[in-house]
Amino acid sequence: MTQLAIIGGTGLASPELLQVHAQENVHTPFGEPSGPITRGRLFEQEVLFLPRHGYSHHLPPHRVNYRANIWALHALGAREIIAIAAVGGITEAMGPGVLAVPNQIIDYTWGRSSTFFEDDLDHVTHIDFTEPYCETLRQRLLQAAACAGVEMVDGGTYGATQGPRLESRAEIQRMQRDGCDLVGMTGMPEAALARELALCYTCCAVVANWAAGKAEGEISMTEIEANLKGCMVDLGRVLGAL
Ligand code: HPA
Repeated sequence: MTQLAIIGGTGLASPELLQVHAQENVHTPFGEPSGPITRGRLFEQEVLFLPRHGYSHHLPPHRVNYRANIWALHALGAREIIAIAAVGGITEAMGPGVLAVPNQIIDYTWGRSSTFFEDDLDHVTHIDFTEPYCETLRQRLLQAAACAGVEMVDGGTYGATQGPRLESRAEIQRMQRDGCDLVGMTGMPEAALARELALCYTCCAVVANWAAGKAEGEISMTEIEANLKGCMVDLGRVLGAL
């Protein structure tokens, strides 16, 4: 059985359904991951679990050591990763409470360590990233949602912003013109690093709010947290079916 890893996002740091067996500290050539990797059982399936922002949610998106996280999961045997990510919704189908499995990415982040291939190389390496997510795992996630009777949007472009601030209205308008459907702060370089290690990686996006300017007024953390909480049951059912 291929080892499955789950990376938890904002509001998704400690899945209550996970029976914890062990926690492993992994030291990588790229530094420390966001915390120890949990080995556990989720719906009869052995999984590895790592909350991207740390167990106490203390790491902002631009400070997450994405290289160490992906390296550590790979080192413990992960070959498939489901990356759960809170996002803002830009286009009509992506309202708060929606679950989506994007199929494209645009990277607006900067200054993050975004490759394993930079020092002590025998030769320069360029990975193919035409399809940034693993299509097999994407389809399995969608089938799982269908089995569980949970609606999930198939496809969409995830725009990865630097954070930790939310975007301005004009930035979201620009992202929409670029073709983004969703906006989040952690999708990159995570997806590219997973591809560099030939991991099958897909994103399970949970829409926490309308992106800036897409609804009246300001975006509040209270709203984001409440919407994420509201999605937990559906998310659990999808993972159970998977
Ligand atoms: N923008 C960026 N990241 C996010 C948002 C948003 O509106 N909501 C949740 N994560």
